[in-house]
Amino acid sequence: MSRARKVTIVGGGLMGCGIAQVFAGAADAAGEGWAVEVYDAFVGPERIRERILSNLELLVAKDVVSRGEAELIADRVTARSALEEAVGDADLVIECVPEDMGLKQVLFERLDRITPPTAILATNTSVMSPTEIASRATRRDRIVGTHFWNPPFLIPLVEVVKAEDTSEATMGTTLAWLAEVGKKPIRCNKDVPGFVANRMQHALWREAISIVEQGIADARTVDEAVRLSFGLRLPALGPLENADMVGLDLALSIHEYVLPRIESRPGPSPMLKGMVARGELGFKSGKGFSEWTEEGRAASRKRLSDHLVKMIYGK
Ligand SMILES: NC(=O)c1ccc[n+]([C@@H]2O[C@H](COP(=O)([O-])OP(=O)(O)OC[C@H]3O[C@@H](n4cnc5c(N)ncnc54)[C@H](O)[C@@H]3O)[C@@H](O)[C@H]2O)c1
Repeated sequence: MSRARKVTIVGGGLMGCGIAQVFAGAADAAGEGWAVEVYDAFVGPERIRERILSNLELLVAKDVVSRGEAELIADRVTARSALEEAVGDADLVIECVPEDMGLKQVLFERLDRITPPTAILATNTSVMSPTEIASRATRRDRIVGTHFWNPPFLIPLVEVVKAEDTSEATMGTTLAWLAEVGKKPIRCNKDVPGFVANRMQHALWREAISIVEQGIADARTVDEAVRLSFGLRLPALGPLENADMVGLDLALSIHEYVLPRIESRPGPSPMLKGMVARGELGFKSGKGFSEWTEEGRAASRKRLSDHLVKMIYGK
């Protein structure tokens, strides 16, 4: 019988622990599941286990998994303190270290030397170029972007990004493995900033900020306008299916009239820059577009996680 496949997560922080949990929680067709290891240069095994159990607590509270199952999932993750040992027999390595180009380049150069030649090496970078991250490695055909969204154990999408040298075989296997562990992977055929989904998300944020900046509506109203209108449709209807539904002739005439009049500045908003310069950082500082107390932050986070669990698990 062939051995279970093994994934090693490098960097056991917010994303790394969540991604480890995704693989640990998935059983393959033979019911065997993946062997999951996590290597972190600074965080020990106990903290990694705590992080995974704390994520799982949310699912236990909502009756998505039992406490016993949560313990089993956490037990399936082995934390390692030596990188060579953790990746030496891996089929897939997912890098989740901080967003620092130099750090990631050095890591991939090293991973390229110490992993089996058949292993796929993936970077979970949010915004950096996987091509640049892979540039110091030799076998770049097996290096790919896998952009999970936070929290990775809830959000289904993973953007699988083809870097300049990523082979079709690497793309195909990565997409298949991610689907096998229950994610909804999509192909991003070009290594471009923002990949697919963040390009759209930040186009919306740019306009939202501009509306507040111009005094057209306040921040609360902007958020309500999204949540109570097209935001309700989005889980059922993406923008392009929506465009087909209303008619592309109508979409064209709206664009001819509106696009020249909405925000098209290439850089960040001066209002946003000013807020950051004044230390108005949102949840982090207690003031952003709104004022945030501890209770307000907790309530907002709870509203989001309750909503995600309901959408994904119906609970
Ligand atoms: N936080 C998000 O919402 C989010 C979403 C998508 C993608 N990402 C990306 O995922 C990556 C990880 O982000 P995060 O939020 O999990 O960060 P994090 O700071 O929570 O975790 C990073 C972990 O990497 C460890 N680390 C640092 N240097 C290391 C090294 N040389 N070798 C091994 N481990 C090392 C740290 O100790 C830490 O535990 C980043 O590239 C980030 O941009 C983050």
